[in-house]
Amino acid sequence: MSTTRLDRDDAVDELPDDIAKKARALLRSLVRPHRAMALFLLLIVILTALLLIIGPIFIAEALDTGIPRAVEGDPVPLIRAVSLFVASTVASAVLAFVSTRLVGITAQKILFTLRSRLFAHVQRLDLGYHERSSSGRLVSRQTSDMESVQQFLSYALFETALALLQMLFIAVTLIVLDVPLAIVVFAGFIPLFFITRAAHTSQRSAYRRTRTSIAKVIVHFVETMGGIRAVQAYRRQPDRRGTLHEHDSTFREANTDALQGVAWFAGSTRLVGNLTQTAIIVVGAWLVIEGWTQIGVLAAFILYLRRFYGPLDELVQSFNLYQSASAALEKIAAVLDTDPEVVEPTEPRHLPPHTSATTGRSIEFSNVRFSYGEGAEVLPRFDLRIPAGQVVALVGATGAGKSTLVKLVTRFYDPSEGSIRLDGVDLRALADTELRSSVVMVTQESFLFSGTIADNIRIGNPGASAEEVVAAARAVGLDPYVRRLPEGYDTDVKKRGGRLSSGQRQLVSFARVFLADPDVVVLDEATAHLDIPSERLVQNALATVLQGRTAIIIAHRLSTVEIADRVLVMEAGRIIEDGAPADLISGTGRFAELHRAWRDTLV
Ligand SMILES: Nc1ncnc2c1ncn2[C@@H]1O[C@H](COP(=O)(O)OP(=O)(O)OP(=O)(O)O)[C@@H](O)[C@H]1O
Ligand SMILES: [Mg+2]
Repeated sequence: MSTTRLDRDDAVDELPDDIAKKARALLRSLVRPHRAMALFLLLIVILTALLLIIGPIFIAEALDTGIPRAVEGDPVPLIRAVSLFVASTVASAVLAFVSTRLVGITAQKILFTLRSRLFAHVQRLDLGYHERSSSGRLVSRQTSDMESVQQFLSYALFETALALLQMLFIAVTLIVLDVPLAIVVFAGFIPLFFITRAAHTSQRSAYRRTRTSIAKVIVHFVETMGGIRAVQAYRRQPDRRGTLHEHDSTFREANTDALQGVAWFAGSTRLVGNLTQTAIIVVGAWLVIEGWTQIGVLAAFILYLRRFYGPLDELVQSFNLYQSASAALEKIAAVLDTDPEVVEPTEPRHLPPHTSATTGRSIEFSNVRFSYGEGAEVLPRFDLRIPAGQVVALVGATGAGKSTLVKLVTRFYDPSEGSIRLDGVDLRALADTELRSSVVMVTQESFLFSGTIADNIRIGNPGASAEEVVAAARAVGLDPYVRRLPEGYDTDVKKRGGRLSSGQRQLVSFARVFLADPDVVVLDEATAHLDIPSERLVQNALATVLQGRTAIIIAHRLSTVEIADRVLVMEAGRIIEDGAPADLISGTGRFAELHRAWRDTLV
């Protein structure tokens, strides 16, 4: 059972072919605003690398000329060489401080931009995307993948640049010192190049696997915590732990593979380094014997060679972080590259002004067909007209397409064909702000955000005053319950004592609607866990909220159907009965049957 869920995640997780290119473009766009800083840091890197190279020169000078001259009674050259060495060390320390600080600040700025860009994009993605993918995946993009990018930008990037430059400078110095010997050193580069390339390819796939598997670990964790009630109720803990263990093992294996690549890389660079040194000694000795090279040059070569292969170790470490970060950046780029399927019009139209004679707005479905992605058709050719101000109850068996219908009215999805019009204006032509202020959906779960009761009501209209919030709560009958809470409207809903019952939560969402004052209310009714008194409470509140608006209510309760002007019975995406509640009840159709069954449960 868990495999189907994971397969689906994999499908969403699939990376487009040109993702590496997209990740690079993303990185460029992130660095571009900090170009001046990047250039400045490059300058610091160059200076640092130069200081690292010239340090030994001062030491050599002290040994070669400083000490002999001091022995002869002239201490100036020695003092000069030593002072210069100390100065270069101090300069090096200052540069290290400045660069570390600046790199840290810049990296944090870049990550801040990336995090907020990702968050904004994810919020913009259509509901379809979120229904297809689990929130855990997005959590992992925002946490573990970000962490990976951050590690590379803050710690490895500068070190890599420094190591590479240092190698470059040493290479130049070697050429200046002795061309034939330098060629021997560079010959060692040929195997190094192939090793690096092989390591890069094999590690890239391993690191991609680490990103995918850590995402699965997080998905599983988030899902288990989200469904902790079901997990505990059905005693699924061992099962969930087992699956987590599986994902965690995949993560561990992928990491082990990646580190094996690192080990190979580290080992072979060391081997190549040592072999090159041996070759230098052999070839150098021969050159010295033949009189083509000075012994001092050979000594310098061997010293520089150590410095040359030293940074390679650093590079191995950085390479590791780089691979991990680039796999993470690819994942982030893939999310940013996903376009929302429901898009705002570039030139939005406006709804006609309200005439005083009508309340609410009319809704018209014409020739609508709809299916989720490539799936089977849920609404085959659908036509429906709801006049302004009408309260429509939608009933029908599970899977009939009721929720789908209301998700189209709120434009969480666009129809595959045909159009849905609000007072004659196609929903696709409306600006998002206008659509959202005109059509409001009350969701089943009555979601409460962290914060106070007042904050939660104010979601309907963030500019509302404290009086308006209280008035809304009073209108839907929530006020007396809030008064009983320890801090009234300022009670934190996530704290003990601020916990609301499901009926009260439902009232909070009604107060939101009341405050938002939309033209159209769409309600996917929750029946679960409402006892009779709270059902009555919710019913009264509902009547208040619907006053003067067009409404579509997916009704599971008889009492809701009774306050409707019209009942639509849906079956397999079609409307099979349509009429006033009283007419349908007295008839012989599907609704009359349903109604009788309901009645029987009430006695
Ligand atoms: N996000 C989705 N992706 C793919 N298919 C979906 C999705 N949501 C619903 N479906 C499918 O569309 C059909 C209609 O589902 P819908 O949720 O509209 O039914 P419903 O009438 O609201 O049922 P219920 O009374 O149980 O809430 C079902 O066959 C369902 O499997
Ligand atoms: Mg439904």
